[in-house]
Amino acid sequence: MDIEILKKLESEFDQRSNELKSAISPQEVEQLRLDYLGRKGHFPKLMMGLRDAKKEDRPMLGKEINVLKAKVEKAIAILKSKAEDHAIDSSLACEPLDFSLPVQTEGECGSLHPVTLITQELMNIFRKLGYIVFDGPEIEFDFYNFSALNIAKDHPARAMQDTFYVDSGEPQEPWYLRTHTSNVQIHAMKNLRPPLKLIAPGRTFRVDNDPTHSPMFHQIEGLVVDEGISFGDLKGALNDWVKALFGPQATTRVRPSYFPFVEPGAEMDMNCVACFGKDSKCRVCKGSGWLEIGGCGMVHPNVFEAVGYDSERYTGFAFGFGIDRMAMLKYGLDDLRIFFNTDPKFLKQFPIYPNSSN
Ligand code: FA5
Repeated sequence: MDIEILKKLESEFDQRSNELKSAISPQEVEQLRLDYLGRKGHFPKLMMGLRDAKKEDRPMLGKEINVLKAKVEKAIAILKSKAEDHAIDSSLACEPLDFSLPVQTEGECGSLHPVTLITQELMNIFRKLGYIVFDGPEIEFDFYNFSALNIAKDHPARAMQDTFYVDSGEPQEPWYLRTHTSNVQIHAMKNLRPPLKLIAPGRTFRVDNDPTHSPMFHQIEGLVVDEGISFGDLKGALNDWVKALFGPQATTRVRPSYFPFVEPGAEMDMNCVACFGKDSKCRVCKGSGWLEIGGCGMVHPNVFEAVGYDSERYTGFAFGFGIDRMAMLKYGLDDLRIFFNTDPKFLKQFPIYPNSSN
């Protein structure tokens, strides 16, 4: 091996890269890279060839090889970026935009779904109260939907949440369409250390179907964990957000209830703002003046243990509310299935953008 071989290689490379400059494709640049820098390319061969060069020439040749290699790498990087630009330009040229097509007028645009509107409003309210928004999967493993939430395999609470099962290919270990957003509590606690203050809105699924139960519905989960969190903090939080969503006349009450993942556990009701307690024939609350919105309580120590939190040190509260039920209240509806039967006459009544009249 001698310097002439390097000069020849350089001039061949210059010629090939010059040819590419006119009609350049990412595939051609990649081929050039493989030919010179790839495992079976010229440069690895040159390095091997160094062994056959005269001993006194080796340092000089090694240096020259490195200089040439740096030049080739730089040239290929420039060609690659040109090829990418060229690919974008040619795809734009093939799909010309027709700017003369008529634009839809505002009246014909879709509008935001009422459940989306309430969800956005809730997220804004909770963000202002210092909560972060955390997302979790809709198809879930047993651990997150049940076991880590203190719902053992043979626990009767599983039967309360008529579950859709998904074939995982493992008959003993099916997947689940999550039956509640409480699965996000586990994902969050397995990923974050206290203090935690988060909400998780999303879709949930159960084998339900009647005027106040839909097979696909929406919940918003809340989880606050720190040292010294009390049930009083939970009650304060409940009142804060219902007033923010429904106005100062909105109030809450809690009734003792059972959820395996909280202790003590409670059901939260909201006074029916649709009738303000005046209408004994209110279609929404059936004259009771209250509507069940969801469950809440203090996080059970077994849940903390399942995610590796110190249950002696930390306490926390959690809640899980039906967003569709809130939308029923807010819009005075007596059957939530209307949200999901895609009737444009119903859906068109809602604003295109929040805070706009259409
Ligand atoms: C739960 O799902 C618990 N995960 C809530 C919870 C979270 C308790 C954290 C404690 C701590 P429940 O099954 O009651 O609880 O459902 C909560 C709310 O979801 C109900 O009050 C109701 O507003 C709504 N909901 C339940 N099933 C349906 C359905 N099929 N259609 C519409 N809304 C529903």
